[in-house]
Amino acid sequence: MAPPTRRRPSFATARASRGLPGFRRAYHTEESTANMPRALVTGITGQDGSYLAEFLLQQGYEVIGMVRRTSTINFDRIRTFQDRITIVQGDLLDQVSLINILQQHRPAEVYNLAAQSFVPVSFDQPVLTGEFTGLGVTRVLDAIRIVDRSIRFYQASSSEMFGKVQEVPQRETTPFYPRSPYGVAKLYGHWITINYRESYNLFACSGILFNHESARRGLEFVTHKITHGAARIKLGLGDALYLGNLDARRDWGWAPDYVRAMWLMLQQEHPDDYVVATGETHSVREFCREAFDYLGLDWERHVVVDPKFYRPAEVDLLVGDPGKAGRILHWEPSISFREVVRLMVDADMASLRQTGNHSPHVG
Ligand code: NAP
Ligand code: GDD
Repeated sequence: MAPPTRRRPSFATARASRGLPGFRRAYHTEESTANMPRALVTGITGQDGSYLAEFLLQQGYEVIGMVRRTSTINFDRIRTFQDRITIVQGDLLDQVSLINILQQHRPAEVYNLAAQSFVPVSFDQPVLTGEFTGLGVTRVLDAIRIVDRSIRFYQASSSEMFGKVQEVPQRETTPFYPRSPYGVAKLYGHWITINYRESYNLFACSGILFNHESARRGLEFVTHKITHGAARIKLGLGDALYLGNLDARRDWGWAPDYVRAMWLMLQQEHPDDYVVATGETHSVREFCREAFDYLGLDWERHVVVDPKFYRPAEVDLLVGDPGKAGRILHWEPSISFREVVRLMVDADMASLRQTGNHSPHVG
């Protein structure tokens, strides 16, 4: 059987998301599938993978989502559009699976979002984190080098690479100083992406994304832990919320905005690296206040500091300068910090009211 053809997204489609004239949205029917651009998304079951897949479907893409084998399938975040994408089995630890997927599906674009993405676990499992989050990037890039060098590649890099920050705000030229095995692994992924771009002329981009949140965020991350905890307290399902370092500051944005930036990077004439951030920073304490205030609660009566949530080395302050993304990608965040917090609280209240104590990844 001949491999399916690869298609690049049309220029008109690329212009569309920038709000430029001359765009006609690529609505598709089954018959038109052959003309759709095709993208492979690793990490499609995660927060960003699910939003990116939805965004690409809206742009008229055929989406191939790579999932790893688990004993229990968890497709909560992709359930609403699962029948519109193709799911394939693969693992960042297994390069054969990556080569096979590229050969079979011939995507025009690959978005590498899969990773062990939780910083505390990277201290407990530093070697495995290095395998997934660091070397996994090389496996994908090398699969591209072997199968088809015209594939465009996006690497999910992280503001965690700035760690002990050397400049405020952080931009593309700021020196890196990672403070966790996760940050170190991401830095390796960032540099190997640049190396493959320079060595093999691949269209490979590294998006240095600052924290971005939504109701689909894993419950272990501090934002969702806070909004979910506050909603539980409001509904009488609990009384205390145990947190670690309340002084850490982050640049928190809205996840659906950030997946748009990933796509824009791959629609440019030249591959490059971009910081994606809001340019605002807030402490964990401020996030607590905002969430509890919104529910009419006094956060100081409920939040308890538990040192078990402290990290061996902390990233104290992150705030990005999204100037380059603004100038070149015409990207900007669509909603404010306060709106992010409120949307997450609303979603947790709604899902807790519906399900009792459980908060599925909805919204
Ligand atoms: P997430 O919700 O934790 O999702 C991670 C995804 O990676 C999941 O789909 C997971 O699959 C998959 N995965 C993990 N190990 C894998 C392996 N060995 N093989 C195949 N798939 C594997 O993360 P996210 O928040 O969506 O973030 C997406 C990417 O952006 C990550 O690389 C993260 O490090 C990076 N990033 C995130 C942020 C942020 O604020 N969200 C900021 C900067 C960078 P399972 O469902 O099977 O676990
Ligand atoms: N998770 C968590 N749980 N964090 C807490 C807690 C708690 O109970 N209490 C305080 N914090 C502090 C952490 O010490 C950290 O300084 C901050 O809240 C944010 O923690 P996370 O929400 O776990 O996110 P992160 O900044 O470590 O990492 C996220 O953002 C990175 C981009 O900067 C992840 O999404 C990474 O994958 C991503 O690369």
